[in-house]
Amino acid sequence: VELRELPTPALVVDAAALDANLALMANRLPGAALRPHVKAHKCTALAARQHAYGHLGFTCATPREVSVMAGAGLGADLLLANEVLDEARLRSMIDTARQHDARVTVAVDSPATIAAAASGGVREVVIDIDVGLPRCGVVPDAAGDLATRAAEAGLVVRGVMGYEGHLQMDLDPSRRAERVREAMIALRAAHRDVGGDIVSAGGTGTHRDLVIGLDDPAGVTEVQAGSYALMDTDYMRHDAGFVPAINLIGTVISVGARHGVIDVGLKALGMDHGPPTIDGAAVWFCSDEHITFAPDDGSLPRLGDRIRVRPAHLDPTVARHQVMWLVDGDAVIEPWPIDMRHW
Ligand SMILES: Cc1ncc(COP(=O)(O)O)c(C=O)c1O
Repeated sequence: VELRELPTPALVVDAAALDANLALMANRLPGAALRPHVKAHKCTALAARQHAYGHLGFTCATPREVSVMAGAGLGADLLLANEVLDEARLRSMIDTARQHDARVTVAVDSPATIAAAASGGVREVVIDIDVGLPRCGVVPDAAGDLATRAAEAGLVVRGVMGYEGHLQMDLDPSRRAERVREAMIALRAAHRDVGGDIVSAGGTGTHRDLVIGLDDPAGVTEVQAGSYALMDTDYMRHDAGFVPAINLIGTVISVGARHGVIDVGLKALGMDHGPPTIDGAAVWFCSDEHITFAPDDGSLPRLGDRIRVRPAHLDPTVARHQVMWLVDGDAVIEPWPIDMRHW
Protein backbone atom coordinates (compact mmCIF):
# COMPACT_ATOMS: atom_id res chain seq x y z
CA VAL A 1 0.00 0.00 0.00
CA GLU A 2 1.17 3.53 -0.79
CA LEU A 3 0.90 6.46 1.60
CA ARG A 4 -1.47 8.23 -0.78
CA GLU A 5 -3.94 5.36 -0.64
CA LEU A 6 -4.50 5.70 3.13
CA PRO A 7 -7.85 7.11 4.20
CA THR A 8 -7.36 10.50 5.87
CA PRO A 9 -6.89 11.85 8.46
CA ALA A 10 -4.11 9.27 8.84
CA LEU A 11 -1.64 9.14 11.70
CA VAL A 12 1.69 8.16 10.16
CA VAL A 13 4.94 7.08 11.86
CA ASP A 14 8.21 7.32 9.97
CA ALA A 15 10.05 4.04 10.72
CA ALA A 16 13.56 5.46 10.25
CA ALA A 17 12.88 8.50 12.45
CA LEU A 18 11.35 6.30 15.16
CA ASP A 19 14.36 3.99 15.12
CA ALA A 20 16.75 6.95 15.30
CA ASN A 21 14.94 8.24 18.40
CA LEU A 22 14.82 4.83 20.07
CA ALA A 23 18.52 4.24 19.36
CA LEU A 24 19.57 7.67 20.65
CA MET A 25 17.65 7.23 23.90
CA ALA A 26 18.82 3.63 24.41
CA ASN A 27 22.34 4.94 24.04
CA ARG A 28 21.81 7.71 26.62
CA LEU A 29 19.73 5.64 29.05
CA PRO A 30 20.40 1.96 28.34
CA GLY A 31 18.30 -0.94 29.63
CA ALA A 32 16.68 -0.40 33.01
CA ALA A 33 17.82 3.26 33.19
CA LEU A 34 14.79 3.99 31.00
CA ARG A 35 11.28 2.87 31.90
CA PRO A 36 9.51 4.16 28.77
CA HIS A 37 6.12 5.79 29.40
CA VAL A 38 3.55 4.16 27.10
CA LYS A 39 0.93 6.88 27.53
CA ALA A 40 2.68 8.88 24.80
CA HIS A 41 1.89 6.29 22.11
CA LYS A 42 -0.61 3.81 23.64
CA CYS A 43 0.59 1.20 21.16
CA THR A 44 1.95 -2.25 22.12
CA ALA A 45 3.68 -2.66 18.74
CA LEU A 46 5.73 0.44 19.49
CA ALA A 47 6.36 -0.72 23.06
CA ALA A 48 7.65 -4.03 21.65
CA ARG A 49 10.18 -2.04 19.65
CA GLN A 50 11.30 -0.20 22.80
CA HIS A 51 11.59 -3.61 24.47
CA ALA A 52 13.81 -4.77 21.60
CA TYR A 53 16.08 -1.82 22.38
CA GLY A 54 16.59 -3.29 25.85
CA HIS A 55 14.01 -1.54 28.04
CA LEU A 56 12.09 -4.31 29.77
CA GLY A 57 10.13 -2.25 32.31
CA PHE A 58 7.44 0.26 31.31
CA THR A 59 5.52 3.14 32.85
CA CYS A 60 1.73 3.32 32.39
CA ALA A 61 -0.84 6.00 33.21
CA THR A 62 -4.06 3.93 33.30
CA PRO A 63 -5.14 0.46 34.43
CA ARG A 64 -6.06 -0.27 30.82
CA GLU A 65 -2.52 0.48 29.65
CA VAL A 66 -1.24 -1.99 32.27
CA SER A 67 -3.73 -4.71 31.29
CA VAL A 68 -3.06 -4.42 27.56
CA MET A 69 0.72 -4.37 28.06
CA ALA A 70 0.39 -7.52 30.20
CA GLY A 71 -1.76 -9.19 27.55
CA ALA A 72 0.82 -8.36 24.89
CA GLY A 73 3.54 -10.19 26.85
CA LEU A 74 5.28 -6.93 27.80
CA GLY A 75 4.56 -7.21 31.52
CA ALA A 76 7.96 -8.04 33.04
CA ASP A 77 7.80 -4.92 35.24
CA LEU A 78 4.92 -2.46 34.78
CA LEU A 79 4.67 0.69 36.90
CA LEU A 80 1.25 2.34 37.04
CA ALA A 81 2.56 5.84 37.77
CA ASN A 82 -0.82 7.17 38.74
CA GLU A 83 -3.27 7.07 41.63
CA VAL A 84 -6.33 4.83 41.35
CA LEU A 85 -9.20 4.73 43.85
CA ASP A 86 -11.41 2.37 41.86
CA GLU A 87 -10.93 -0.99 43.54
CA ALA A 88 -12.88 -2.96 40.94
CA ARG A 89 -10.75 -1.59 38.15
CA LEU A 90 -7.57 -2.39 40.07
CA ARG A 91 -8.82 -5.92 40.68
CA SER A 92 -9.58 -6.54 37.03
CA MET A 93 -6.14 -5.14 36.06
CA ILE A 94 -4.44 -7.43 38.59
CA ASP A 95 -6.46 -10.46 37.40
CA THR A 96 -5.31 -9.81 33.83
CA ALA A 97 -1.73 -9.30 34.99
CA ARG A 98 -1.80 -12.64 36.88
CA GLN A 99 -3.11 -14.49 33.84
CA HIS A 100 -0.11 -13.23 31.88
CA ASP A 101 2.50 -13.51 34.67
CA ALA A 102 2.97 -9.76 34.67
CA ARG A 103 4.50 -7.81 37.55
CA VAL A 104 2.56 -4.67 38.45
CA THR A 105 3.53 -1.86 40.83
CA VAL A 106 1.12 0.96 41.58
CA ALA A 107 1.75 4.53 42.78
CA VAL A 108 0.02 5.57 46.02
CA ASP A 109 -0.07 8.93 47.76
CA SER A 110 -2.75 8.61 50.47
CA PRO A 111 -4.24 6.12 52.95
CA ALA A 112 -7.22 5.81 50.58
CA THR A 113 -5.12 4.82 47.57
CA ILE A 114 -3.23 2.35 49.78
CA ALA A 115 -6.54 0.81 50.93
CA ALA A 116 -7.80 0.59 47.33
CA ALA A 117 -4.54 -1.05 46.22
CA ALA A 118 -4.62 -3.59 49.07
CA SER A 119 -8.25 -4.56 48.51
CA GLY A 120 -7.84 -4.53 44.73
CA GLY A 121 -5.20 -7.27 44.99
CA VAL A 122 -2.16 -5.10 44.27
CA ARG A 123 0.99 -6.48 45.92
CA GLU A 124 3.65 -3.86 45.19
CA VAL A 125 3.57 -0.07 45.35
CA VAL A 126 5.78 2.99 45.14
CA ILE A 127 5.15 6.14 47.17
CA ASP A 128 4.43 9.04 44.81
CA ILE A 129 6.20 12.23 45.93
CA ASP A 130 5.26 15.83 45.15
CA VAL A 131 8.52 17.28 43.80
CA GLY A 132 7.01 20.63 42.79
CA LEU A 133 4.31 19.86 40.21
CA PRO A 134 0.94 20.46 41.88
CA ARG A 135 -0.54 17.16 40.73
CA CYS A 136 -0.29 13.78 42.50
CA GLY A 137 2.18 12.90 45.25
CA VAL A 138 2.70 13.52 48.97
CA VAL A 139 5.12 16.07 50.38
CA PRO A 140 8.49 14.39 51.01
CA ASP A 141 8.11 14.68 54.81
CA ALA A 142 4.98 12.52 54.79
CA ALA A 143 6.45 9.72 52.65
CA GLY A 144 7.91 7.63 55.49
CA ASP A 145 4.59 7.42 57.36
CA LEU A 146 2.76 6.48 54.19
CA ALA A 147 5.30 3.72 53.48
CA THR A 148 4.73 2.35 56.99
CA ARG A 149 0.96 2.35 56.40
CA ALA A 150 1.42 0.56 53.08
CA ALA A 151 3.55 -2.11 54.75
CA GLU A 152 0.91 -2.49 57.49
CA ALA A 153 -1.67 -3.04 54.75
CA GLY A 154 0.45 -5.95 53.49
CA LEU A 155 1.97 -4.15 50.50
CA VAL A 156 5.61 -4.31 49.45
CA VAL A 157 7.01 -0.81 49.01
CA ARG A 158 9.51 -0.82 46.12
CA GLY A 159 10.61 2.81 46.46
CA VAL A 160 9.50 6.24 45.31
CA MET A 161 8.57 8.14 42.19
CA GLY A 162 8.27 11.88 41.62
CA TYR A 163 7.41 13.54 38.35
CA GLU A 164 8.89 17.00 37.79
CA GLY A 165 6.41 17.83 35.02
CA HIS A 166 6.62 21.58 35.69
CA LEU A 167 10.27 21.53 34.54
CA GLN A 168 9.88 19.63 31.24
CA MET A 169 9.42 22.79 29.18
CA ASP A 170 12.09 24.97 30.82
CA LEU A 171 14.23 25.57 27.73
CA ASP A 172 17.14 27.17 29.61
CA PRO A 173 19.51 24.20 30.05
CA SER A 174 21.47 25.41 33.09
CA ARG A 175 18.42 26.72 34.93
CA ARG A 176 16.51 23.51 34.14
CA ALA A 177 19.38 21.31 35.33
CA GLU A 178 19.55 23.21 38.61
CA ARG A 179 15.79 23.04 39.20
CA VAL A 180 15.70 19.32 38.34
CA ARG A 181 18.55 18.72 40.79
CA GLU A 182 16.63 20.46 43.58
CA ALA A 183 13.51 18.42 42.80
CA MET A 184 15.51 15.17 42.82
CA ILE A 185 17.17 16.05 46.12
CA ALA A 186 13.65 16.33 47.57
CA LEU A 187 12.77 12.96 46.03
CA ARG A 188 15.87 11.38 47.56
CA ALA A 189 14.99 12.81 50.98
CA ALA A 190 11.70 10.94 50.71
CA HIS A 191 13.51 7.83 49.50
CA ARG A 192 15.70 7.82 52.62
CA ASP A 193 12.53 7.45 54.72
CA VAL A 194 10.82 4.99 52.40
CA GLY A 195 13.64 2.68 51.26
CA GLY A 196 13.44 0.29 48.31
CA ASP A 197 15.26 -0.12 45.01
CA ILE A 198 13.27 2.28 42.84
CA VAL A 199 13.72 6.04 42.47
CA SER A 200 11.75 6.85 39.33
CA ALA A 201 11.36 10.30 37.74
CA GLY A 202 11.79 12.37 34.63
CA GLY A 203 10.50 12.87 31.13
CA THR A 204 11.66 13.75 27.64
CA GLY A 205 12.35 17.37 28.63
CA THR A 206 14.51 16.57 31.65
CA HIS A 207 16.10 13.21 30.81
CA ARG A 208 19.52 14.76 30.18
CA ASP A 209 19.44 16.52 33.57
CA LEU A 210 18.94 13.35 35.60
CA VAL A 211 21.83 11.36 37.02
CA ILE A 212 21.45 7.58 37.10
CA GLY A 213 22.75 5.96 40.28
CA LEU A 214 22.16 6.52 43.97
CA ASP A 215 25.75 7.53 44.75
CA ASP A 216 24.92 11.02 43.55
CA PRO A 217 22.72 12.84 46.15
CA ALA A 218 20.28 13.79 43.36
CA GLY A 219 20.60 10.47 41.52
CA VAL A 220 17.66 8.32 40.44
CA THR A 221 17.46 4.71 39.26
CA GLU A 222 15.30 5.21 36.17
CA VAL A 223 13.71 7.77 33.85
CA GLN A 224 10.06 7.67 32.69
CA ALA A 225 10.34 9.46 29.32
CA GLY A 226 7.74 8.69 26.65
CA SER A 227 7.42 11.43 24.02
CA TYR A 228 11.00 11.00 22.83
CA ALA A 229 9.97 8.08 20.58
CA LEU A 230 7.61 10.06 18.33
CA MET A 231 8.14 13.71 19.34
CA ASP A 232 5.87 16.72 18.71
CA THR A 233 6.57 20.33 17.76
CA ASP A 234 6.48 21.44 21.40
CA TYR A 235 9.20 19.00 22.46
CA MET A 236 11.19 19.73 19.26
CA ARG A 237 11.92 23.17 20.77
CA HIS A 238 14.36 21.35 23.08
CA ASP A 239 16.95 20.54 20.47
CA ALA A 240 17.72 17.26 22.25
CA GLY A 241 18.74 15.35 19.13
CA PHE A 242 15.39 13.63 18.54
CA VAL A 243 13.59 13.96 15.21
CA PRO A 244 9.86 14.30 14.49
CA ALA A 245 8.59 10.78 13.77
CA ILE A 246 4.82 11.28 13.68
CA ASN A 247 2.59 13.24 11.32
CA LEU A 248 -1.02 13.50 10.40
CA ILE A 249 -1.78 13.27 6.72
CA GLY A 250 -4.77 15.21 5.42
CA THR A 251 -6.36 15.56 2.00
CA VAL A 252 -7.15 18.96 0.47
CA ILE A 253 -10.95 18.86 0.17
CA SER A 254 -11.62 22.47 -0.76
CA VAL A 255 -9.66 25.38 -2.22
CA GLY A 256 -10.55 29.05 -1.77
CA ALA A 257 -9.16 32.24 -3.32
CA ARG A 258 -6.13 32.32 -1.02
CA HIS A 259 -6.39 29.16 1.08
CA GLY A 260 -6.77 25.42 1.12
CA VAL A 261 -8.79 23.24 3.50
CA ILE A 262 -7.80 19.74 4.66
CA ASP A 263 -9.81 17.04 6.40
CA VAL A 264 -7.80 17.10 9.65
CA GLY A 265 -9.38 19.08 12.46
CA LEU A 266 -9.66 19.45 16.22
CA LYS A 267 -11.18 15.99 16.50
CA ALA A 268 -8.00 14.42 15.13
CA LEU A 269 -5.56 16.64 17.07
CA GLY A 270 -4.52 17.50 20.61
CA MET A 271 -4.46 21.32 20.64
CA ASP A 272 -3.62 22.08 24.28
CA HIS A 273 0.00 22.90 23.38
CA GLY A 274 -1.01 25.15 20.50
CA PRO A 275 -1.96 24.79 16.85
CA PRO A 276 -0.36 22.24 14.51
CA THR A 277 2.28 23.13 11.94
CA ILE A 278 2.35 22.63 8.16
CA ASP A 279 5.82 23.04 6.64
CA GLY A 280 5.90 25.89 4.09
CA ALA A 281 2.43 27.14 4.98
CA ALA A 282 0.59 29.26 7.55
CA VAL A 283 -2.12 27.51 9.56
CA TRP A 284 -4.97 30.05 9.72
CA PHE A 285 -7.23 28.11 12.07
CA CYS A 286 -8.53 24.66 12.99
CA SER A 287 -12.18 23.70 13.27
CA ASP A 288 -13.85 20.41 14.16
CA GLU A 289 -12.97 18.58 10.94
CA HIS A 290 -10.80 21.10 9.07
CA ILE A 291 -7.54 23.02 8.99
CA THR A 292 -7.56 26.17 6.86
CA PHE A 293 -4.06 26.99 5.62
CA ALA A 294 -2.23 29.09 3.04
CA PRO A 295 1.12 28.19 1.40
CA ASP A 296 3.87 30.74 2.21
CA ASP A 297 4.77 31.21 -1.47
CA GLY A 298 1.27 32.39 -2.41
CA SER A 299 0.52 29.29 -4.47
CA LEU A 300 -2.71 27.36 -4.02
CA PRO A 301 -2.92 23.64 -3.25
CA ARG A 302 -4.88 21.39 -5.59
CA LEU A 303 -7.90 19.35 -4.63
CA GLY A 304 -6.75 15.91 -3.55
CA ASP A 305 -3.24 17.02 -2.51
CA ARG A 306 -1.91 15.25 0.56
CA ILE A 307 -0.69 17.61 3.31
CA ARG A 308 1.54 16.70 6.24
CA VAL A 309 0.51 18.16 9.60
CA ARG A 310 2.80 18.17 12.65
CA PRO A 311 0.97 18.01 16.00
CA ALA A 312 2.02 20.28 18.89
CA HIS A 313 1.08 17.68 21.53
CA LEU A 314 1.61 14.03 20.81
CA ASP A 315 -0.24 12.20 23.60
CA PRO A 316 -3.77 13.59 23.16
CA THR A 317 -3.36 13.47 19.37
CA VAL A 318 -2.55 9.75 19.35
CA ALA A 319 -5.35 8.98 21.82
CA ARG A 320 -7.88 10.26 19.27
CA HIS A 321 -6.91 7.60 16.68
CA GLN A 322 -7.38 3.86 16.38
CA VAL A 323 -4.30 3.14 14.31
CA MET A 324 -0.92 4.58 13.39
CA TRP A 325 0.57 3.56 10.06
CA LEU A 326 4.25 2.68 10.04
CA VAL A 327 5.76 4.00 6.80
CA ASP A 328 9.06 3.98 4.95
CA GLY A 329 8.97 7.01 2.66
CA ASP A 330 5.86 6.57 0.51
CA ALA A 331 5.47 2.87 1.28
CA VAL A 332 3.18 1.75 4.10
CA ILE A 333 4.87 -1.04 6.09
CA GLU A 334 2.01 -1.99 8.43
CA PRO A 335 -0.79 -0.65 10.61
CA TRP A 336 -0.06 -0.43 14.34
CA PRO A 337 -3.27 -0.50 16.42
CA ILE A 338 -3.40 2.12 19.17
CA ASP A 339 -4.56 -0.65 21.44
CA MET A 340 -4.07 1.00 24.84
CA ARG A 341 -6.65 3.75 24.30
CA HIS A 342 -9.22 4.56 26.96
CA TRP A 343 -9.09 3.84 30.64
C1 LIG B 1 4.15 10.33 35.61
C2 LIG B 1 4.81 10.79 34.36
N1 LIG B 1 6.07 10.40 34.11
C3 LIG B 1 6.73 10.77 33.01
C4 LIG B 1 6.14 11.59 32.06
C5 LIG B 1 6.99 12.02 30.90
O1 LIG B 1 6.52 11.82 29.67
P1 LIG B 1 7.13 12.62 28.43
O2 LIG B 1 8.47 12.04 28.17
O3 LIG B 1 6.16 12.32 27.37
O4 LIG B 1 7.19 14.05 28.80
C6 LIG B 1 4.82 12.03 32.26
C7 LIG B 1 4.17 12.92 31.29
O5 LIG B 1 3.20 13.59 31.55
C8 LIG B 1 4.14 11.62 33.43
O6 LIG B 1 2.88 12.01 33.68
